[in-house]
Amino acid sequence: MSIIKACIFDLDGVIVDTAVYHYKAWRLLANELGFDFSEQDNEKLKGVSRVRSLELILQWGGVTKTKAEQDELASKKNAWYVGMISHMTPAEILPGAKEFVETCRQAGLKIALGSASKNSGMILEKVGITYLFDAVIDGNKVSKAKPDPEVFLKGAQALHVAPAECVVFEDAIAGIEAAINGGMRSVGIGSPEVLGKANLVVSGLNEMSLEKLNAL
Ligand code: BG6
Ligand code: MG
Repeated sequence: MSIIKACIFDLDGVIVDTAVYHYKAWRLLANELGFDFSEQDNEKLKGVSRVRSLELILQWGGVTKTKAEQDELASKKNAWYVGMISHMTPAEILPGAKEFVETCRQAGLKIALGSASKNSGMILEKVGITYLFDAVIDGNKVSKAKPDPEVFLKGAQALHVAPAECVVFEDAIAGIEAAINGGMRSVGIGSPEVLGKANLVVSGLNEMSLEKLNAL
């Protein structure tokens, strides 16, 4: 494997804990439709696009909607979600995340964001870390969802590095699979039972170091 030249970070669940807001907003929507879903079910929505998340939730509730109705429901959920994240502050950056990205930058590595979220730009602004990223590839720039590697390959391209020179940081299994499909190394953020396919699994970026990165 060639030397590591770039790190690509997922946003939700890696840099910030927005899963709780996604869950709250989707739950409000489900409740309005007359059903509820559990925190365990919510795990299945991590890393999954807005459209696909709604399809899964409607399936769980046994509810059928037309495409136009689904668009309206997804917009409604997003408006609630945007209302919630508009109050986010730098205090909501996950432990060690900002410090580790800064360490990587100081070591001369290029940094990209690779997220499915169409709200990435706003979240980075709210928590004050837009300046840390050389490139931001988010849900507005890709058409294929993880585990397709499109988001990470576009990240590598924007940073002018080869996929084999990149390490992806992801909390979703679909994201680890996307990294593998793109020919990249990966670090799972979460539990080894779920993210075992990654080259390394840590509980958070506070557990990462340049030594661990270079040993991948
Ligand atoms: C991912 C989240 O990062 O982004 C998913 O893990 C979310 O839960 C997806 O559905 C899309 O986000 P948004 O902000 O565009 O609805
Ligand atoms: Mg994530």
